[in-house]
Amino acid sequence: MADPAIDLQSVRKTYGGGVHALRDAALRVERGEIFGLLGPNGAGKSTLVKVLLTVVRATQVNGTLLGRPIGQKAPLARVGYLPEHHRLPPYLTARQAVEFSGALSGVPRKDRRQRADGLLDRVGLSNWKDRRVSTFSKGMRQRAGLAAALVNDPELVFLDEPTDGVDPVGRKEIRDLLVGLRSEGRTVFLNSHLLSEAEQVCDRVAILLQGRVVREGRLIDLQREGSRQELVVRWYGPAQPLPGCEDAGAVDADASTRRYTLATLDAAAAQPALDAARRAGAVVISLTPVREGLESLFMKAVTDPVTGRALPPGAIA
Ligand SMILES: Nc1ncnc2c1ncn2[C@@H]1O[C@H](COP(=O)(O)OP(=O)(O)OP(=O)(O)O)[C@@H](O)[C@H]1O
Ligand SMILES: [Mg+2]
Repeated sequence: MADPAIDLQSVRKTYGGGVHALRDAALRVERGEIFGLLGPNGAGKSTLVKVLLTVVRATQVNGTLLGRPIGQKAPLARVGYLPEHHRLPPYLTARQAVEFSGALSGVPRKDRRQRADGLLDRVGLSNWKDRRVSTFSKGMRQRAGLAAALVNDPELVFLDEPTDGVDPVGRKEIRDLLVGLRSEGRTVFLNSHLLSEAEQVCDRVAILLQGRVVREGRLIDLQREGSRQELVVRWYGPAQPLPGCEDAGAVDADASTRRYTLATLDAAAAQPALDAARRAGAVVISLTPVREGLESLFMKAVTDPVTGRALPPGAIA
């Protein structure tokens, strides 16, 4: 397999005032994928990206970005970045703002105009190129910021909450843009707390909680883990679990509603439970696959198992 785009073995960041924003967080991003870093407010997502981009100095960091040690500036010429709450100079037009961004990231002067035009078309601002950023709505600024983040034709692009303030149509367009970037072979690193959005585009995700990565993997694998089938049977006997069903793989049984949960999505693996139900004299009403959504996966990851409450942001020393 090719070198990963990011191989972050560990990072710690303690801000002045003793806030432990990152506590030995580790993750790996493969080339050409859309990777989602998810986590509640204050989990450390933006700090992690800023460390990778050398905007924030880590307390301690180990790993590589585009094959070079994290902290080196050279690979950043091949990286794009849309910061959280970014601010383009409001007195510039959209085209000037993107060209300015190109100048800052070393795009040759002769290419800047054409690049800016193409990117502004791509983010849906064709008719607004010569308007000042100060007249833009929040969502339009976000689109202009996206164009600016892509101006250096990056291999790897970091987008910190790119759909913040963008309307549903715009959000869909941004998702399509991310997929387009992937199909061009670029790697996309998306910071988001909008789970439904991440669910629609990410290949792999990590969940960051209190400065640590608590889950990481292919979205499809993480979802499969919590997926199940629900078996509903009709039985006129007393309200008690059907004999044999639990032995046959039912992990949860609600004897009064006759609903059994099977911890598998595999229909073949569900057959013994169906057989057991029939042997006990029940009629099988339905067997329904239920895929775990990212939201439920996320809520499980961020909930304190003892108190049942969402865990608070990172600890203060
Ligand atoms: N410059 C700073 N100085 C001190 N503490 C900071 C600074 N920036 C962030 N923090 C703290 O570090 C922790 C992580 O913040 P960070 O912005 O990385 O979280 P986040 O996951 O991006 O949150 P959000 O979803 O709200 O954007 C928080 O407790 C925050 O208060
Ligand atoms: Mg953030």
